[in-house]
Amino acid sequence: MDVIDTQTVDRTTLHRIWKTLLAGIALVVAVACYYVPVLLVVMGLLLLLLLSARLLYRGRDRYIPNLYARDIRVYDDAYRAFIARTVADLRRFKIRGHPLLWEASRLAPCSQDSDELLLDLGVWIGWSTRLISDACERPVYGFDTFSGLVEDWHVDDQIVIKRGTFALSEPLAQRFMRDTGVSLHDGLPAALGRQVQFIKGSTYDTLAPFLADRPGAPIRLFHMDLDTYESCLHALETCKDHFIEGSILVFDEYLVTNGEMLAFYEFQSKYQLEWRYRAWGLEIWEMNIEMVAARWKRIVYYVILITAYWLVGDGRYAWTIFSRRFWRFWLGAPIGDILFMLGAAGQRKSVSLEITGLGLLDWTRRSDRDNG
Ligand SMILES: C[S@@+](CC[C@H](N)C(=O)[O-])C[C@H]1O[C@@H](n2cnc3c(N)ncnc32)[C@H](O)[C@@H]1O
Repeated sequence: MDVIDTQTVDRTTLHRIWKTLLAGIALVVAVACYYVPVLLVVMGLLLLLLLSARLLYRGRDRYIPNLYARDIRVYDDAYRAFIARTVADLRRFKIRGHPLLWEASRLAPCSQDSDELLLDLGVWIGWSTRLISDACERPVYGFDTFSGLVEDWHVDDQIVIKRGTFALSEPLAQRFMRDTGVSLHDGLPAALGRQVQFIKGSTYDTLAPFLADRPGAPIRLFHMDLDTYESCLHALETCKDHFIEGSILVFDEYLVTNGEMLAFYEFQSKYQLEWRYRAWGLEIWEMNIEMVAARWKRIVYYVILITAYWLVGDGRYAWTIFSRRFWRFWLGAPIGDILFMLGAAGQRKSVSLEITGLGLLDWTRRSDRDNG
């Protein structure tokens, strides 16, 4: 088996290349201003105009960083207060890398006979699961239908990603399996020498029997990447008796306000959980690119991803002047958010948190024990 350096599992080459490109663009602009001083005057005026408009703008705090999509005034007061607290909190926990690997690399080693569970929900071709295991050198269970989403995914009021998307039969999955050396065995991605086990099927069918076979086993790491509100809430409910104080929950798409964030909001309110945010950073999917074996192919993927993200992906709101998201971003986002967003050629929607108190879950467990 390969020796894996747990410190270097998390890679952000894509974003470092993007930052270098940004620095290059800034240099070109600076040189242009030097030779054509009128450019400097025009840019200074535009900047002044932008700063003045920011002072007058009334939409601050109505949109979630990264997406600047749905106006959160569509939600009730309690959820809006939760979102506002979340965004304020998260700004203190920005990290450069991927919260999933950041958390996995911080998990304490455990003995061979430990029954602690590390769950990866939504694995696609399996790299998120393998990388968690690489980062903490512990066994990890990965759950997926391998035939795609089980329900349509409404990403705020932006797009609907259809049921069945992310099936391993899709050309994109086939290409990434080829380029990252993943083969299928009985319909499951290969472990590739890692301590991982994949469980095939909808989590609506597989999660409860899996946990019933392991009564009392605490969940140490819960990675949610099933994307939809329904699957997320179902998984939280199914796992609830296995959460402990110290369980780490990582949500890959947390900043979608009608998806994972809403599911967690409802779950933590229902059981009066105590918890604290720990990290806000990059989505784990892009690590698939870092796993591409051939260097030249990786470079091609970097170029495609950077171009696609800024030209047709979510990054385009930073320059499409006729879109509402452009104005929400440039007029409403705090400077720190603007720099955080522009500094990555990809989504920063992933968030991790730690359960610090079990609330009613503790009470329910105690009364179950007393009655049993
Ligand atoms: C965004 S992909 C996961 C990406 C993966 N974590 C990675 O980093 O490459 C979402 C995955 O969730 C799976 N999925 C969604 N809902 C599911 C459910 N209820 N049960 C099982 N799998 C589900 C889909 O098949 C898909 O592979």
